[in-house]
Amino acid sequence: MHCLARLFSLPVLQGGTVVNADRQFQADVLIRDGIILRVEPGLQAARPGTRQLDARGKLVMPGGIDPHTHLAMPFMGQVACDDFFSGHAAALAGGTTMHIDFVLPVAHDLLAGWEEWQRKAQAAVMDYGFHMAVTSWSDRVAADMAAVTARGVNSFKFFMAYKGALMVNDEQLLAGLRRCKELGALAQVHAENGDAVAEGQQRVFDAGITGPEGHALSRPAALEGEATARAIRLAEFVGTPLYVVHVMSRDAMEEVGRARQRGVRVVGETVASAISMDESRMWHPDFDVAAQYVMSPPIRSKEHGAALRAALAGGVLQLVGTDHAVFNSSQKAVGRHDFRIIPNGVNGLEERLHVVWQELVNSGQLTPSDFVRVTSTAAAQVYNIYPRKGVVAPGSDADVIIFDPSLDHTITAAAHHSAMDTNIYEGYRVRGKVVTTISRGRVVWHEGKLNVMRGSGRFVPTPTHGPLFQGLDKQPAHLVDVARYGGVPVKRSSSGTHERD
Ligand code: URP
Ligand code: ZN
Ligand code: ZN
Ligand code: ZN
Repeated sequence: MHCLARLFSLPVLQGGTVVNADRQFQADVLIRDGIILRVEPGLQAARPGTRQLDARGKLVMPGGIDPHTHLAMPFMGQVACDDFFSGHAAALAGGTTMHIDFVLPVAHDLLAGWEEWQRKAQAAVMDYGFHMAVTSWSDRVAADMAAVTARGVNSFKFFMAYKGALMVNDEQLLAGLRRCKELGALAQVHAENGDAVAEGQQRVFDAGITGPEGHALSRPAALEGEATARAIRLAEFVGTPLYVVHVMSRDAMEEVGRARQRGVRVVGETVASAISMDESRMWHPDFDVAAQYVMSPPIRSKEHGAALRAALAGGVLQLVGTDHAVFNSSQKAVGRHDFRIIPNGVNGLEERLHVVWQELVNSGQLTPSDFVRVTSTAAAQVYNIYPRKGVVAPGSDADVIIFDPSLDHTITAAAHHSAMDTNIYEGYRVRGKVVTTISRGRVVWHEGKLNVMRGSGRFVPTPTHGPLFQGLDKQPAHLVDVARYGGVPVKRSSSGTHERD
């Protein structure tokens, strides 16, 4: 049994072009026991039991890391229908070998949420990490944040929207940012003005617009820009790095760019849907089609998509996730008469690499190395697991894909691996395809066939005090800089009189 398993734990990828974020070069890749052993030209398949994979004419890249997913998430009265098994199968078929999922507290209890997600993840078939959402504030939450970092979580998401559900107010956000700084953990924000969104939704609904287009109309880009700017300014005030999840608009992207120009440590993540789809889909006459595209913040107009692609090319935004949170047609249908209760979320875990390649590499905006950076390396660096992940190099985990840039294919729900009955990319054509996926040294996707084992996935702890925290102590600790004014109060007479001017 053991010998048989070992027989196939020695893949060697021969004749390909290795593409890392820093360079491309011709090399073979030898894998042993789940780790990349050697990356150099002319490696012979020396050992018996070595599985040779022909990578000639193809690219050998680090497996994708999706920094933003919601598997089996209870949300808006439904539970996202991809769990850690179907979601992972989909991911691997699309060349993504690790993702970081958002743990939601159970009744605001972080540790109960942690337990719940560990239980869900027992079905895992690939590596995964966790972010933790913070949806309320108390001494208990602050203490539990430390307990969660000790368990291998280095990022906390604060929702500035979903009023009455997940949303925190500015006071809570400030406290959370301060706690993140203390813990060396990365603060993340869902940036939309939740109060204004609630008002916008009511106005649109009262005007008689009840369909999915109401979702787009009720939460305009300005509300995303406002919240992004506010979160950045608050993070600046506290002096802690900030990660803006799912940047969907030019408005939000420009705030990220302005802050980076000021020298603020802010990272901007956009998602596959934002750079490839546009809001017109929410006006589709068939509710079932239109509802598929409902996510928050909303998918915007074509102009926003173009601005986001350019921002990735120009380095204003650093990485692309998916926000994979999938609800099938019957789940979306609960909002048939009220767009406000359509469960929010779209697919992308399987499609992300292909969409980014099509939109940005085939258009000439990104090089293959840039592609690796925005789909894998940047996430590994931001979440402090580089070079274990995010690079094809000796000593790194053997999460590797073989990509054929000349293969054409079309994305369809009929052929995907998600548990969804629809796919927002239905009919989307791509030149370039992941032909092989290797997860921790195992060939799990090859020539259109999946070979995964339920329960074989592994939790990858993300350590605190990552690169974004390096040298932070050299910056002024706080915008409220008492010391700058001598640190002592001005002496004034106690009589209550004052000198006339
Ligand atoms: O619509 C979305 N984005 N659903 C998932 C929850 C979130 O806000 O990330
Ligand atoms: Zn053996
Ligand atoms: Zn969000
Ligand atoms: Zn999300």
